[in-house]
Amino acid sequence: MRFQVLTLFPGMFEGPMSESIIARAQSQGLIEVSLHDIRDHAHDKHRQVDDYGFGGGPGMVMKPAPIFEAVEHVKSASSLPDATPVILLSPQGDRLDQSSVERLATFQDLVLICGRYEGVDERVHQHLATEEISIGDYVLGGGELAAMVVIDAVARLVPGVVGSTESPANDSFTTGLLQHPLYTRPAEFRNWEVPEMLLSGNHAEIDRWRRHEALRRTLAHRPDLLERLSDDLLTEEDRRYLDELSREHK
Ligand code: ADE
Repeated sequence: MRFQVLTLFPGMFEGPMSESIIARAQSQGLIEVSLHDIRDHAHDKHRQVDDYGFGGGPGMVMKPAPIFEAVEHVKSASSLPDATPVILLSPQGDRLDQSSVERLATFQDLVLICGRYEGVDERVHQHLATEEISIGDYVLGGGELAAMVVIDAVARLVPGVVGSTESPANDSFTTGLLQHPLYTRPAEFRNWEVPEMLLSGNHAEIDRWRRHEALRRTLAHRPDLLERLSDDLLTEEDRRYLDELSREHK
């Protein structure tokens, strides 16, 4: 899978893209992250990529031409299929979640445009980007960190990137629930003990315990996830346990 990133600050990607899972995936040839400097597509001698906004108001706006030309260059240089998503990272976008990550992971290529300053010219939103993604309801200094979040989350779903021992199948959100608690050695640390159940060796009971803990956490921290969960993802037993928890709570 190839990620084509258009940015004014390619240097921001150096650290995050050269460590751990993402670095390994690149060296194994499973993913490719190509950085393109939008400024290389500026026309004037000052290589200007932003300008005052029409209508006044504070802040600068990213000019459309360098962004359009950067995308056109990448599309033809890398022979990207017409259906390749061109994603604008912006706080105005649809909020990223695990199901959108799963959808993005079905493509061979993604083009990611990182906005800066007050924003980008509306014609980029309207006529160049095929979708717009926000990583949450807060404003970052630019789209670069958001693009790295998208790359990290999508790359984990590319076959072979995450080893079978770290399988994404049990990830939070893939199951629709938050993850159950995890423990490692020592079994007792500063007087805090690992729940006995986990030492029992009874795998059916351990699975049941983990499921209950995942339900308990989700109800406590993200009840909105439970409400959105489709009916077939909750078993009768899950429902009984959730009822029990709500009764306890009352
Ligand atoms: N650029 C600035 N803030 C952002 C956000 N929350 N998501 C995506 N891109 C952004």
